[in-house]
Formats: sequence, structure tokens, C-alpha cells
Amino acid sequence: MNIGIFDSGIGGITLLHQALVMLPNEKYIFYADTDNAPYGTKSRDQVIALVDNVMRFMAEHDCKAVVIACNTATAAAAEIMRQKYSIPIIGIEPAVKPAVRESHGKRVLVAATPLTVREEKLKNLVKLVDDAHLVDLLALPKLVEFAERGEFSSAAVEQYLRDAFSFYELAQYGELVLGCTHFNYFKDTFRKILPNDVHMIDGSEGTIRQLVHVLKSRNQLGTDCAAVAKNDTSVRYFSSGRELKEKVELDYVKRLHERLEKMRNL
Ligand code: DGL
Repeated sequence: MNIGIFDSGIGGITLLHQALVMLPNEKYIFYADTDNAPYGTKSRDQVIALVDNVMRFMAEHDCKAVVIACNTATAAAAEIMRQKYSIPIIGIEPAVKPAVRESHGKRVLVAATPLTVREEKLKNLVKLVDDAHLVDLLALPKLVEFAERGEFSSAAVEQYLRDAFSFYELAQYGELVLGCTHFNYFKDTFRKILPNDVHMIDGSEGTIRQLVHVLKSRNQLGTDCAAVAKNDTSVRYFSSGRELKEKVELDYVKRLHERLEKMRNL
């Protein structure tokens, strides 16, 4: 059986990348809903309908678990999908809790999409952990557009982020939460702008840890042998239902994994 991982676009590869490290002996279906990206500037109802389509696809493709590799889709639709589908659904959320814990009293900036920032789910999470009122929320919708056109470290990206951060006294912050999976591609530019002691954190490792826990508890961890891990065909990539087969497309995906690997320890 497969593990399904999906996002509106290439952001979800952040979680796939992490899953391949922590669960190399599995088969994956990666689905980027490219035709409908971005999700973060849509309404809640629009995102629910789109996520429902993807979930149907996953259910038809023999998935034993589905990872919603999109903070926006988790915020808008995870609960509703859990009521509708019997497949376990693990959804990424902004890593607000560990960020507050590790910021040692300094402020925490949570960057996400406009819909994630608007949704009750994030507001409730913040309410739960932010007794000292140290958390600020910032929507960065344009970063998703930059990512989807493969523009990761241009002068325009840097200017966009400098402008967005100009409203904040960055020296007061201890943590920047990357609350959208697309944002991991920009860690080098974030690093350039942020003071050295501001740490970046995202929810991908915790989400895959949760996936491991769910599969273990259901006795469904892959035993497909390490050969699968060495074999590129352990992941099938789909763009809104169309499987990527062309070398040029798969080469691009490979470059995205390489970029994420470079960004990992920044
Ligand atoms: N990557 C997604 C997230 O984590 C959403 C990007 C978008 O489509 O707006 O929220």
C-alpha cells in the first residue's frame, strides 16, 4: 500500500523529503494540486472542495495513510475529511508550540498563507500556548507564487521579504515559524534577513513522526526492503491527477529535493 502526500504545489515536497529520510522503505504517491494552486488565497469552502477531490484520488490509489502536506488545507479541511474518509489523515500545522517553548521569552513570528492566518484552527492553537502574548501572525501569499514559478532566491524575493519584515522589530524575536510548506525553499533568503539568533522552525519533522506513530500503531509500517529506497520509483508524482513521466519534469522534482536538502540545516 502507499502513503499519500499532497499539497497545492511543490511545498509538499518538504514533507515527502522528510518522509523519505525517516521512512525509506515505503511507497509514496505525491500529489501537487498545481492546477488549483495557490490554496492560501482561496476561501475555506473552495479549499474543502479541492481537498475532497485529492482525498478521493488518494482513496482510489490504495493509500494506507494520507499526509496533508499543506498547513492551509489542514486548517480548512482536515477535520471534515477525517469524518468523511476512513484512511488515517495526518495534517501539518504551524510549529507554534515548540517555537514558543524554544524562544525563551522572546517573540515568535508565525508566517503562513492568508487563509491559515484567518482560520480558527491557528488562532485556537496560539491561544492555547501563548499565555504571554508573544506570538505574531504574518501572511506571506506572494512567496507561494514565487515558489510555484521556481523563483527561490532572486532580488525580488529578498525585497518582498524585507518589506514584509520591515513592520517588525526583528531583534525582539527568537523564532520564525515557517507555517507554509512552500516557505522552506526560501530559508537562505530568510537567513540573510533575520538576525543570527532568530531560529527557523517548521512542522515537517513532527508531522512525519506522527505518521510513523500512526502506521506503527496500525501495524502498517512498510517492510518493502531497503531496495525500494534506492529505487526512484518508490515515489510516483502527480500534478492534479496527471502522473509526471517526462524526464524534464522528474529532473525538476529532483532539483527541488536538492534545494530542500541544502535548506535543511539553515
Ligand atoms: N503549501 C501550503 C501550506 O503549507 C499552501 C500554499 C498555497 O497554496 O497557498 O499552507
